Amino acid sequence: MESSILTVAYLAAGVLFILSLGGLSRQDTARRGNLFGMIGMVIAIVATLFHPRVEAFGLTGGAVIVGALVGAALAARVAMTAMPELVAMLHSFVGLAAVLVGISTYLDPGKELHGAEHVVHQLEIWADVAIGAITFTGSVVAWAKLRGSVSGKPLLLPGRHLLNLAMVLGILGLAVPFTPLHAPDGLTFLLAMTAIASILGIHLVMAIGGADMPVVVSLLNSYSGWAAAAAGFMLENDLLIITGALVGSSGAILSYIMCEAMNRSIWNVVFGGFGAAPVAPSGEPQEQGEIQPIECDDLADCVADAESIVIVPGYGMAVARAQNAVHDFTRLCQEQGKTVRFAIHPVAGRLPGHMNVLLAEAGVSYEIVLEMDEINDDFPHTDVVLVIGANDIVNPGAETDASSPIYGMPVLKVWQAKKTIVLKRGMGSGYAGVENPLFFKENNHMYFGDARASMEALVTALRGSKAA
Ligand code: TAP
Repeated sequence: MESSILTVAYLAAGVLFILSLGGLSRQDTARRGNLFGMIGMVIAIVATLFHPRVEAFGLTGGAVIVGALVGAALAARVAMTAMPELVAMLHSFVGLAAVLVGISTYLDPGKELHGAEHVVHQLEIWADVAIGAITFTGSVVAWAKLRGSVSGKPLLLPGRHLLNLAMVLGILGLAVPFTPLHAPDGLTFLLAMTAIASILGIHLVMAIGGADMPVVVSLLNSYSGWAAAAAGFMLENDLLIITGALVGSSGAILSYIMCEAMNRSIWNVVFGGFGAAPVAPSGEPQEQGEIQPIECDDLADCVADAESIVIVPGYGMAVARAQNAVHDFTRLCQEQGKTVRFAIHPVAGRLPGHMNVLLAEAGVSYEIVLEMDEINDDFPHTDVVLVIGANDIVNPGAETDASSPIYGMPVLKVWQAKKTIVLKRGMGSGYAGVENPLFFKENNHMYFGDARASMEALVTALRGSKAA
């Protein structure tokens, strides 16, 4: 392919990626944003296949086809609740690719480089491999922690900050003898640095507690972007630089937003050792007063009397796949002239935007889906709040219990409403593994059962009372 056509194709793909990110920032334009991203990626892949340096056309095309098939099969099968694990695994692929491409580019640079050009190219390889190795091993550990194969407890080695510092200095220091050497003379230094960066990636993520894992996944997303950007400089590929920078900076912004939402310092998360591990549910709740169970018919009466209703969805709604029943409930209430709105906590569920995606999938109108800051002051004027499979994000202990691992995390102040109804299967704790005083409050009732079955029964009861 002519290099000018290639440049135009890369530019078009870059613009489409930017439009894609713009579209993804709002629910009503997210579908279009996704489409832009997909078209951009197709253009990028096709243009790259016709790049003059791509010779093994069959091999590359074959790898793309096999990769696409495996990716499509995995994406179709993955449960929404297992998305963070999948995302962590995909980041590890980006890191591994950066390491492999970096080492092979060192061994076969494609052209003779001398003087400053050589030094810059060596440093680009160094940065690409270092960030790639940290991303690769860090993401594998994150994946193992998220799926429970490795304990969520932070690994706090004595002198761990010094250890990190020593490894960073080792990575930087080895660049000195490596930089002047032409391939393959510097390979030993490059491989030694890869080993140190890999250990650093493991150590950084092992030191992070389960409660901070959402932020870590987003940070690793950012690292994978910077690894791709470094690869772009190394390969003189403008599109990779643009894409890498977009992923790197958007991941960093998301990490910052999530840290704000959880009241964590981003530096604490980066350097680890914070975020208590999820504690195993303690079984019997500590005595905090009486819980008040409610039956479906009584709840239907309570809903029938309410004028304003707020629904707080959480992880349990995703597990139960209750979103369609929730949508039916919403429509029914709206038909009866009630005001129904959704309150979305920034870390509800197990991945950013988890609840928004499920509600959009069920067809809930975007206008009634509000962020925490938009709705938190409205609870005192709300008749009924339905908390559907949520726990940590509505825990008043985050404001009052200094010993709680979620102390300081902003939460939805549902207890200020006239009445709250919590839908869950039993008295199990949430992700943070802590007791929730909300369940024992006087104005709260527990509607026990699987969230989907409970909501379907409620809809049937409401329809029955409407018909009667
Ligand atoms: P959680 O605090 O995890 O609570 C979910 C509740 O759902 C559980 O207490 C469980 O109680 C209930 N549940 C489970 N299956 C159910 C079903 N089939 N039907 C009804 N209820 C069911 O969820 P949350 O309030 O959404 O808070 C999210 C938590 O996850 C936060 O601590 C957050 O930091 C963390 N986290 C978030 C993310 C992101 S990015 N969103 C990523 C990782 C971790 P029962 O067992 O009694 O039913």
